[in-house]
Amino acid sequence: MNRTLLKDVMARLAGSMAIVLLAMGVFGSQHALAGISATKHNLGSTGTGVNKFDGTGEICVFCHTPHGADTSAAVPLWNRVLALPNTYTTYNSLGTSSLDGATAPVGSVSLACLSCHDGTQAMNVMINAPGSGLTGDATFTGGTWAGANQTLGKIGAGLITNIGTDLKNDHPVGIQYGGGMPAGGAYTAGAIAAGALKDADFKALDHATLNGNSVWWVDTGTAGRQKTDMALYTRTGADSVTYPGGVRTVTAGGLAGAQAFVECASCHDPHTDVNPTFLRIANAGSAVCLACHIK
Ligand code: HEC
Ligand code: HEC
Ligand code: HEC
Ligand code: HEC
Repeated sequence: MNRTLLKDVMARLAGSMAIVLLAMGVFGSQHALAGISATKHNLGSTGTGVNKFDGTGEICVFCHTPHGADTSAAVPLWNRVLALPNTYTTYNSLGTSSLDGATAPVGSVSLACLSCHDGTQAMNVMINAPGSGLTGDATFTGGTWAGANQTLGKIGAGLITNIGTDLKNDHPVGIQYGGGMPAGGAYTAGAIAAGALKDADFKALDHATLNGNSVWWVDTGTAGRQKTDMALYTRTGADSVTYPGGVRTVTAGGLAGAQAFVECASCHDPHTDVNPTFLRIANAGSAVCLACHIK
């Protein structure tokens, strides 16, 4: 190989290395942004938020457990004790004359978020602590808390992240979408057009049946259900039949009486802060609000 050829090969190699490094850098930073480990919801010793517990390097354990989870509300493998719904004062008790959807007892994923965000329960209180034989521990005591936004592991009083138990000053949760389902009779699976909802000021509602469960969402872009859509949550059975428009049948395989509700995770995805404050979509131009409200 002559010198020019060698130089040429070296230059190409350096070029492709640079591309590889650039690609790694790009994916590396995307990964760091998109993953929960780089968010305030990493509460373990590797956490990047203000609040940190040095007793474990695990991340999921503060919210999920593979075994022995709380099943008192429909949240996946929940590792924290959930408060009783009547612990909370709901938004509807404010008495605005414009609210027309019915309010459910605080439940579903909202109850799970509030198990930390109401500020009443320390975040190292978990059902199944990390490690062998610790099932049933009330508090995982194997470490200490650090960070200015907590007091003994509870989210600090007076902070905006401490939602408290009075939800009158928070966007309604456990609230029917669109003021309730279309009036009269059964509706078919698939989208419910905006005008068909009881409250005409709301965007169309999408529906699908997954494994026999009704899932609902408000589309924000690409057709089909994505994490960047506004997720709605199903309340069923006794819970839903008491609501206006509650006695409805989802034809084409859905659950009888199933209803779509707005909960904390309608707007937030707790696993990624690709948008600030864990929002499902960026809120420029109030895009989050306008995803549901026609204003
Ligand atoms: C701060 C609390 C919190 C932490 C920490 C957390 N999750 Fe979650 N996770 C939730 C909540 C709340 C839900 C329910 C969200 C919903 O209903 O939309 C959920 C849902 C899920 C789901 C089902 C829905 C989905 O988005 O796919 C999976 C899987 C999951 N979590 C895995 C994990 C894993 C793995 C970790 C650790 C790397 C983790 N979570 C850490 C709160 C958390
Ligand atoms: C996931 C859908 C959804 C998103 C996103 C959403 N809302 Fe709402 N909002 C609702 C529903 C449902 C109600 C209850 C309406 C009713 O029953 O009258 C509501 C009610 C309200 C009310 C009226 C409460 C009353 O007393 O009449 C206001 C104000 C409001 N939202 C503002 C906002 C703002 C501001 C944003 C963005 C930060 C936002 N909403 C995002 C679904 C949503
Ligand atoms: C295991 C406890 C825990 C649970 C469960 C939890 N969070 Fe958090 N969350 C925190 C802590 C701690 C912070 C940081 C508070 C601070 O520094 O003021 C936080 C911060 C946030 C923030 C602000 C992020 C920012 O960048 O300012 C949002 C939004 C949020 N959480 C939403 C939720 C939602 C929605 C749920 C349920 C889907 C949830 N959280 C469940 C502990 C929790
Ligand atoms: C209708 C949409 C919507 C619902 C429902 C909702 N949030 Fe939020 N939340 C937002 C938006 C938008 C922001 C960003 C506000 C801002 O930029 O100040 C936010 C901010 C937050 C913050 C950070 C506050 C701050 O200013 O740092 C926390 C914590 C939080 N939400 C928790 C919750 C919890 C817990 C629930 C359920 C009880 C909930 N959210 C329900 C839209 C919502």
